Amino acid sequence: MTDDVALSFDSRVIHAGQSPEQWQGATLPPIFQNASHLHATAENLSDTFAGKTRDHIYMRLTNPTNRVLEEKLAALEGGRGAVFMASGMAAITNGCMALLRAGDEFVCGNSLFMSTYLLFKNVFAKYGITARMVESTDLDAMAEAITDKTRFVYLETIGNPKMDVPDLEKAAHLAHAYGLPLIVDNTLASPYLCRPIEFGADVVIHSTTKYLSGHGDAVGGVVIDSGRFDWAASGRFADMQPFIDRKGELAYLDRVWREHHINFGTSAAPLHAYLTMVGLDTLALRMERHLANAQKVAEFLRSRPEVAWVNYAGLADHPSHPVARSQFGGLGYGGLLAFGLKDRETCFKFINGLKMVYHLANLGDCKSLVIHPASSQYVSFAEEVRQSLAITQDLVRLSVGIEAPADIIADLGQSLDGIKG
Ligand SMILES: Cc1ncc(COP(=O)(O)O)c(C=O)c1O
Repeated sequence: MTDDVALSFDSRVIHAGQSPEQWQGATLPPIFQNASHLHATAENLSDTFAGKTRDHIYMRLTNPTNRVLEEKLAALEGGRGAVFMASGMAAITNGCMALLRAGDEFVCGNSLFMSTYLLFKNVFAKYGITARMVESTDLDAMAEAITDKTRFVYLETIGNPKMDVPDLEKAAHLAHAYGLPLIVDNTLASPYLCRPIEFGADVVIHSTTKYLSGHGDAVGGVVIDSGRFDWAASGRFADMQPFIDRKGELAYLDRVWREHHINFGTSAAPLHAYLTMVGLDTLALRMERHLANAQKVAEFLRSRPEVAWVNYAGLADHPSHPVARSQFGGLGYGGLLAFGLKDRETCFKFINGLKMVYHLANLGDCKSLVIHPASSQYVSFAEEVRQSLAITQDLVRLSVGIEAPADIIADLGQSLDGIKG
């Protein structure tokens, strides 16, 4: 295996976790499609069930192909371990439920991805768990929302489609002052743009379906454990002791895996790990283009009279611009943006007039993608909830792809021309 620690991020994204010598010289691991694995002796299977070996037992528990991706993603985020799962929502569900019991609370930003919002607000509520939602950039509100029952603070690196960027270092500091871990959904930034563990986050979650795989051909999610949170010292997690005894600094990941991932049956098919690894090889190049294109597109949209407003942290007057600039190291501001047209009908006309940009419900694909969230993902939400999530009827969301920027701008421009008549 390459000594990838010395490599820059752009090279590590290709070489981290590579073991071609174990794969008969192949530069990607084989897809281990088998449901179950042979064990030479009864002792070995017993030891493996007891967690004394890292051998594989059954695909719902672990899979050799998935493990290679887990090691790559943990290395890229600066974590100590990871579990790859069937989707981003599986990762969010398991990553949060591992810390929650009936009666517990947690504090989260209010600019959450749609299914995360529904999971937190409606599904968890059925089990007596309360999500206290606050403005994700408002640290005072976050502090006020913390009670004796709080088990963690949860944020997204970039709000979707609110585009707000919380200060992760300050949020981690605040959470830790109360003995709480900070969990960050880093899907929209990817580890190319931001590595939350470097700012003090304890757990990082991704929908790998987006930028990490990048080609709209694989679904997946990952929970990455920094291994740094001191569960025993916190005073809030007496129930973590059996996991601390078993796995020490990886107690949380062991709980996510052993108590939730295995029993909820959220395993990912290895083809998805394989495709994600193929996509991952070009993450740095793709992100460079996504970020440059999004900035150009945001500036273009702002120059157009048909566009009422543009929401993108790369614009100098955006409230999150200063935090994003330092947190993202000047590399850029993400590939997603939102903008406003006159009303819903105008948004529909604009979307229907596009020739190259695809109209579909996804983001982070190498292709440019557009959607009218209020009438699609959020169509069944009550209007006041939509308003609180900043999902207005005039809002168009654009995931800027890696096509030639002039072609994206030309397509947007010709469709904007068409909405005048
Ligand atoms: C920020 C964020 N987190 C999580 C998810 C859920 O991911 P998945 O669709 O892989 O379950 C999404 C999906 O769009 C997302 O945008």
